[in-house]
Amino acid sequence: MGTRESVQKGKRMRTYLVTGGAGFIGSNYIHYMFGKYGDTIRIINVDALTYAGNLENLKAVENLDNYTFVRADICDKEAIARIFAENDIDRVVHFAAESHVDRSIRNPEVFVQTNVLGTAVMLNCAKDAWELPDGSFKAGKKFLHVSTDEVYGSLPEDEDAFFYETTPYDPHSPYSASKASSDMLVKAYMDTYKFPANITNCSNNYGPYQFPEKFIPLMINNALQGRKLPVYGDGKNVRDWLYVEDHAKAIDMVQEQGRLFEVYNIGGHNEKQNIEILHIILETLQEMLPEGDPRKALVSEELITYVEDRKGHDRRYAIAPDKIRSEIGWEPETMFKDGIRKTIAWFFEHEEWMKNVTSGDYQKYYDDMYGNG
Ligand code: NAD
Ligand code: TYD
Repeated sequence: MGTRESVQKGKRMRTYLVTGGAGFIGSNYIHYMFGKYGDTIRIINVDALTYAGNLENLKAVENLDNYTFVRADICDKEAIARIFAENDIDRVVHFAAESHVDRSIRNPEVFVQTNVLGTAVMLNCAKDAWELPDGSFKAGKKFLHVSTDEVYGSLPEDEDAFFYETTPYDPHSPYSASKASSDMLVKAYMDTYKFPANITNCSNNYGPYQFPEKFIPLMINNALQGRKLPVYGDGKNVRDWLYVEDHAKAIDMVQEQGRLFEVYNIGGHNEKQNIEILHIILETLQEMLPEGDPRKALVSEELITYVEDRKGHDRRYAIAPDKIRSEIGWEPETMFKDGIRKTIAWFFEHEEWMKNVTSGDYQKYYDDMYGNG
């Protein structure tokens, strides 16, 4: 099969290969990119559609001529190589991963499989497609590996301590260990082959389409149903929350304006204890639910239930975003108080989405994890 060039109005369109685009951040990124570039780019979304992948997230773009979905596992070398052979890919944005710490504690192997081996397959296929006979790479090709601040381990509670790009890796959970391994593979490709890549390490995201196994959507969903709100340990672990659209924008800016081979930390200095976040969610739900809505009576602080702590629970994450700010000019645009309102409004408008993703397998996961709370 020959290479298919994307040509529109006589002009070649830049082609993106996005992995994991049916997940939370990937689908937000695809919406962001079509919103920004419209029909001047083409996106091929490769996703295995695990429990976390949902094509409903992409309904608004599925019929676009410049969007293609391919169901494939990133560990499947042949399928990935075929995509590169059939399309002249300019940019890879690699989101696909197993992403939930609690699941990694229960079942680490699939994290190694997808996050480590899958990343190796993506790197190798891109390298094979982009490498010239002299070992250099075709002009303009770029690979962006989407990673997490969790690779740096846990910070002390001292508020002056932050994660920098130079902070040594010290992952604790099987999830963060697998992401750290994948980062190391990308670094190895950059160092060994001068493979044109960047790595971004971002703090915790929240926003539309987030699967309700994660803290913020889980709490919103449970509160609206009057179910227990399970807080691990003393509730004082700190996470640094970023609205997902700000992350999508940062990824695009790094890929277009960042220096190749560099690592950029992404975060917005929005550190909060889990229990603080939960209070904000409950207050905002009360404010936003109209009088007479039966859910108003269900949302209550009394639902807060302290449960056994997560094994190896990292105490505090906090990103120093100095490099991305000074080199690229990226700044988060969404304050937490606005982002949480937008997120809750989105969940109000997408009850059907929530019903669909919490039926079936989710219920089993929830009961195994939390009991029938
Ligand atoms: P997610 O779990 O919502 O989505 C992951 C997507 O990858 C799903 O669509 C799933 O179907 C797909 N996928 C999983 N295994 C696959 C495989 N073997 N082959 C192809 N597709 C596969 O995850 P997310 O929260 O959107 O995270 C996306 C990326 O961002 C991950 O790499 C994660 O490590 C990173 N990240 C997440 C956060 C966060 O707060 N969620 C923060 C920083 C970095
Ligand atoms: P999570 O959303 O799983 O993200 P991560 O562990 O990758 O940071 O969890 C965010 C924080 O919320 C983390 O400190 C664990 C805590 N947490 C709870 O207290 N209860 C829960 O039910 C969940 C899912 C998380």
